[in-house]
Amino acid sequence: MSDKPYGSGDTSWFVKDRFGMFIHWGLYAQAARHEWVKNRERIADEDYQKYFETFHPDLYDPKAWARLARQAGMKYFVITTKHHEGFCLWDSDYTDYKATKTSIGRDLLHEMVDAFRAEGLKVGFYYSLIDWHHPEFPVDKHHPQRGDQAFREATKDRDVSVYAEYMRNQVRELMTDFGKIDILWFDFSYPGEDGKGKDDWESEKLIKMIRELQPDIMVDNRLDLVGSGDFVTPEQFQPREGPRNEDGSPAVWEACQTLSGSWGYHRDEMTWKSVEQVLGMLIDGVSKGGNMLMNVGPTGRGEIDYRAQASLEGIGAWMKYNGRSIHGCGAAPEGFEAPVDCRYTYNAESNRLYLHILAWPFKAIHLSQMAGKVKYAQLLHDASEVRYRSAKPQEHSALTDAQVAGDLTLQLPVVKPNIEIVTVELFLND
Ligand code: GLC
Repeated sequence: MSDKPYGSGDTSWFVKDRFGMFIHWGLYAQAARHEWVKNRERIADEDYQKYFETFHPDLYDPKAWARLARQAGMKYFVITTKHHEGFCLWDSDYTDYKATKTSIGRDLLHEMVDAFRAEGLKVGFYYSLIDWHHPEFPVDKHHPQRGDQAFREATKDRDVSVYAEYMRNQVRELMTDFGKIDILWFDFSYPGEDGKGKDDWESEKLIKMIRELQPDIMVDNRLDLVGSGDFVTPEQFQPREGPRNEDGSPAVWEACQTLSGSWGYHRDEMTWKSVEQVLGMLIDGVSKGGNMLMNVGPTGRGEIDYRAQASLEGIGAWMKYNGRSIHGCGAAPEGFEAPVDCRYTYNAESNRLYLHILAWPFKAIHLSQMAGKVKYAQLLHDASEVRYRSAKPQEHSALTDAQVAGDLTLQLPVVKPNIEIVTVELFLND
């Protein structure tokens, strides 16, 4: 990776850990109708101020969040230190628009970092490039007051370089006051007409400073600076196959996903994914060599709400038994083709292949070209043996359940075992 013009971070832990928690938390939690509420409803600063004045997350207990994340099998977390609204969770020297100036009067970020580290999770900071509160952030097509011509006129002399310096100052704080930071997640660039990109953010200066202060840190790919990112960030979709670098090699990537249709706490949004669906997404990602960053949007009281909590607990119940088919795993070696309705994940160190069965079949499953490759098979969650057989050449035309030469047929119980997604652990021959 030394051909990277802006250096590169350490991704070795990331491609093993596979599963992280995204946290979107800010003043928008109180509006409880999406973190873009200020943009969507074109709310001016004066009208948004009520959320700042009433912000009081009295039930905030980051240790409980961290425990929940660890028990769900998450190995790192990424927190919105500042989202597009501009509000900062830490005690920044460069603004008063921060948690310590609200009635709660606490540095919410420091407490969170400590709590998650204590549970053994790695630390990631999301930092919004967009800022709808900063007085020198020029109004553009995403700004809440984009349609207010008088406001546009009155603010036309805003100097984005002052804002870029503000960002560097804040990012320097984030890179120096919290110990080792593992991920920096910038969001987002939209270069072109009435937009913003690398020249506005002064992305080059920013990335250079970051690489100096935190040499191992992984930075995402949203700075609008080719070659500055350590990982690719598909958002709200599952790619058909693992994304590739320009030279064709597999990219380090992470799909960021939500439990319901909003990142910030949304009281009335009801498209909550089932635990099975979320696990299917996680497995699908790992089977393509990727990670999943699953989001929660805590409430204005500072709690992970009951729906998100139930999801995380459900995920944790599965991960307790099946975690080793995720952690340390990636795509199966070339040539291994998973049967229909299934995914393979693979641990190269232990040489074990995991067959995740997303739809329960009747009695048998045929593994293409796996005859002779397996020395033992078991259901992962209860270590119960799974017997198998291969087609014998003379049986080609007979009605056996292993018809194709080279196939290996697993014999499964008719009734699906009592676990969300059944995973078979295949010990491969060396
Ligand atoms: C988008 C949205 C944002 C969210 C992010 C997460 O870019 O602007 O609200 O934080 O996606 O990836």
